[in-house]
Amino acid sequence: MNHPVEDLLEIATRAAAAAAQFLVDGWATRSVVSTKSSGTDVVTQMDRGSEALLVEAILASRPDDAILGEEGGSREGTSGVRWVIDPLDGTVNYLYGFPVWAVSVAAEVDGEPVVGVVHAPALGTVWRGATGHLAEANGTGIHASGCDDLAMALVGTGFGYEAAVRAAQGEVVAGLLPRVRDIRRAGAAAVDMCWVAQGVLDAYFERGTHLWDRAAAMVICREAGAQVGGLTGGPASDAMTVAAAPGVYPSLQKALIEAGVGHE
Ligand code: IPD
Repeated sequence: MNHPVEDLLEIATRAAAAAAQFLVDGWATRSVVSTKSSGTDVVTQMDRGSEALLVEAILASRPDDAILGEEGGSREGTSGVRWVIDPLDGTVNYLYGFPVWAVSVAAEVDGEPVVGVVHAPALGTVWRGATGHLAEANGTGIHASGCDDLAMALVGTGFGYEAAVRAAQGEVVAGLLPRVRDIRRAGAAAVDMCWVAQGVLDAYFERGTHLWDRAAAMVICREAGAQVGGLTGGPASDAMTVAAAPGVYPSLQKALIEAGVGHE
């Protein structure tokens, strides 16, 4: 079956915009309704409402598609297209009013991610990518940085919610910090990766993300000339995601291994 990338991009753009507006409009009513991996890994009623809205918007145009959603709105499909959605990446930031949060919508065709939209209303930025077609921020083409020296690289990362995982992640950061320009932890993996695509960060790495955190941003990164993968040549995975300007990708991989990644 033919699934024009332009159509998928249009649906992703509209659905993400609607969910972003819902999150902006309902911000004052946000409340924690559940927790996941730890007491600080919260779910608000707005995460759930945003996911319900995304699912409804996507299925209204494409009823036969599959969906993988962070908050359980997943379903099987028959068309060969699967949508991977994070209705609110950066939930803790949203809760506090720290502006780094986003709606993330990706479309895969036969298992290959082809479209990604990351909409961050409090930052006023919409990143979009389509395989072989485009990588843009607010309609302007973007490219990963030309940084080719890890010592000069501004590197983003993120941390899990469980104390033991965080302790190990802290050790890796301690090993890496003397070897890079500096480290940033902004609190939304999808935004961190889009910042790599845009050259706002030179690189990003994180252990413990989920596919919905990274799927859309991976498309945007690749189309913007950033390299994305896991450790030692493997694909990006829940175990490790590295996104970086090509000039620092290999040296970051090496530095992460030397800092203890994979041995935590
Ligand atoms: C989280 C954010 C955070 C990252 C965590 C993610 P959530 O997503 O992206 O930056 O460090 O790994 O789980 O829970 O806000 O959707």
